[in-house]
Amino acid sequence: MLFVIACVLAVVLYWYGTRGQDYWAKRGVPYKKPIPFFGTAFRQFTQRESPTQFAVEIYRKYPNERFVGAFFGSQKSFIVRDPELIKSILVSDFMYFHKRGLNTHDEVIEPMLKNLFFADGDLWRLLRQRMTPAFTTGKLKAMFPLIVERAVKVQDLADKAAKTGATVDVRDLMARYTTDFIGACGFGINMESLDDENSGFRKLGRRIFTITPRDAFVGMLKQVFRESFKNLNFLVPEIEKTTLHLVQTVMKERNYKPSGKNDFIDLLLALKEKGKIVGESIENFNADGTPKESQLELDDMLMAAQVFVFFAAGFETSSSATSYTLHQLAFHPEEQNKVQDEIDEVLSRYDNKLCYDAIREMKYLEMAFLESMRLFPSLGFLIRKCAKTYTLPGTDVTIDKGVSAIIPVQALHTDEKYFEDPDKFIPERFSPERINDIKKHVFLPFGEGPRACIGERLGHMQSLAGLAALLHKYSVEPAPTSLRHPVSDPAAGITQSIKGGIPLRVKARA
Ligand code: HEM
Repeated sequence: MLFVIACVLAVVLYWYGTRGQDYWAKRGVPYKKPIPFFGTAFRQFTQRESPTQFAVEIYRKYPNERFVGAFFGSQKSFIVRDPELIKSILVSDFMYFHKRGLNTHDEVIEPMLKNLFFADGDLWRLLRQRMTPAFTTGKLKAMFPLIVERAVKVQDLADKAAKTGATVDVRDLMARYTTDFIGACGFGINMESLDDENSGFRKLGRRIFTITPRDAFVGMLKQVFRESFKNLNFLVPEIEKTTLHLVQTVMKERNYKPSGKNDFIDLLLALKEKGKIVGESIENFNADGTPKESQLELDDMLMAAQVFVFFAAGFETSSSATSYTLHQLAFHPEEQNKVQDEIDEVLSRYDNKLCYDAIREMKYLEMAFLESMRLFPSLGFLIRKCAKTYTLPGTDVTIDKGVSAIIPVQALHTDEKYFEDPDKFIPERFSPERINDIKKHVFLPFGEGPRACIGERLGHMQSLAGLAALLHKYSVEPAPTSLRHPVSDPAAGITQSIKGGIPLRVKARA
């Protein structure tokens, strides 16, 4: 009897664990063979391969396909190889792909994940509509003195390292700069994490981006058993508590009114004063096809969630991009000299002071930065979830609502079809004469379309400011522990990171 029950149970389990796994076969789409429950993501769930590494592997394994099927647990997904199809998904057919689909449940969403990056549907649209004015050039220029103040402090840290000759983890150095800048611009408070390696804010930043085995396990449960674990939070309570506390403290200090500091909290307070956010729905339509109205009330928790994403989205991305740029420059002294000559020349015309206009003139520095983001984009893949039945253009393959499209940015950036000598660091690819030769929809460090990075200009300018401040006074060189080709961390999640940091030597310039 026991044997029969065990057999029935095994059959039921097998059926449950493999349901839907014939999805791509039925549509005649090439796909990676899944295993029960985990689909094609067992190595990702066990932190032995990052989603980016998986996408690179599939991209390279199927050189002649436009797209390839996969299964992230029970989530059906496909890796998109063709730039035209990428354009359809990210831009032209956005109405089918406005979701990122990272929350594993449609209705039960933990508070901090109701942020612009994770939100979908009307919540996303209303937030994006209202937050866009925070990222205009005018606002960015108003913030710039804060950025410059922090960038200059990077020099003090580098100075300590240069004097002792010790090897520095520049990943950590740039993370401290970014943390401070976000503290000042995002939270309106002086975080001083540049001075204190273990400041509470720096710890918060580190914790958000460390995917612990607990996080990986919870993530797996939520992905594989979506309904059963919908109430289990992915983020540990400490992150929610600290962020809410920080945001509420600052808002109270300001009496819930904008203080004139022009930072992110001021913007949210101004939005709150305007009352309900009202806009057109992207999910609900009237019988005549016109969009229904949707509304949103900003409460403290929702505001804290936006500050959280401002911190999270801006922190890892810029520190990873800037430290990787330093790594490349350390191994390319000629290019580093060119960057430094340009910084010297531009600053000599600005009284040796960093400012918005000076940074805009540092074209070679920008080229080196773009080339580093090509080699190692902070987000190695983009993701969109299909919102309604969609036929992939030029095919008879129809996909259902809920299927995810993965755009393998890292793989596209290093495909020799689009970039000659793809593994070489050649900033000149991004020179004004050559930049237009780059094929459209394959260079995507900030994504593309209506869900592209809202902080692109801010991230870009803030990163260049940090690099310019450092390289004006110091040079970087490989340290004995530097790896020529740093290894990307298999335990990484949405953003990529380098395993073990980026050790370099910092030397004062003669
Ligand atoms: C070098 C710095 C940065 C890089 C490389 C970067 C990259 C990206 C990428 C690739 C995406 C996804 C785009 C897509 O799916 O098409 C994204 C989204 C986003 N980024 Fe950035 N980012 C940077 C800085 C920032 C900063 C400073 C902020 C500050 C607010 C920010 C806020 C966001 C937000 C809120 C989203 C989600 C936008 C939406 O879904 O509407 N990013 N970023």
